[in-house]
Amino acid sequence: MKKIQAAIFISGRGSNLESLIKSSRKKQSLVNIQLVISNNSKAKGLLIAKKYKIPLIYSFPKKNFEKKISKYLKNIDIICLAGFMQVLDSRFVKKWTRRLINIHPSYLPSFKGLNAQDQAIRAKAKYSGCTVHYVTSKIDSGKIILQKKVKILNKDNTESLSKKILLEEHMIYPKALQKIAKKILEKKS
Ligand code: GAR
Repeated sequence: MKKIQAAIFISGRGSNLESLIKSSRKKQSLVNIQLVISNNSKAKGLLIAKKYKIPLIYSFPKKNFEKKISKYLKNIDIICLAGFMQVLDSRFVKKWTRRLINIHPSYLPSFKGLNAQDQAIRAKAKYSGCTVHYVTSKIDSGKIILQKKVKILNKDNTESLSKKILLEEHMIYPKALQKIAKKILEKKS
């Protein structure tokens, strides 16, 4: 079975990375994760990448990140940002148009930017959620691929809401990636 080649960019814990790797190892997956890049050498996600024996694992500081990584992306079909906390420069984003996706912990277009779960709690919103979307030069504004609502209860705080949202993130990100993989493979054939 033909598969697309994916790179995952991380900055921290890597739980979305793990869910993407796990689903990519399922029989029906159209995705091969061959590369993990972090902009933080202490990211726990790097240990997850090692545990699952991802073939290529790198870490580069934030300065000139885009330049340093470009040579590793030659045969990559799609880049998935998974808790990657750096705004990529607009030239890079343009070059990867429609091949660069992100997961954001809110039901976009609500609560863009940092600390989205906290924003939702402070706004006393009735629900938030998570969204997988294409990355464009406008933060958290690219076309939505998949999203899921999560109810906010009176007793919820930022921590409890983050946990509930994260569980849904782990469900929708692999689904969204599989959907895109199908599209890319159809185009190629
Ligand atoms: C996730 O909640 C992800 O949606 C969020 O960071 C967390 C990373 O967790 N991303 C953003 O806020 C991007 N703006 P993880 O490292 O365990 O996947």
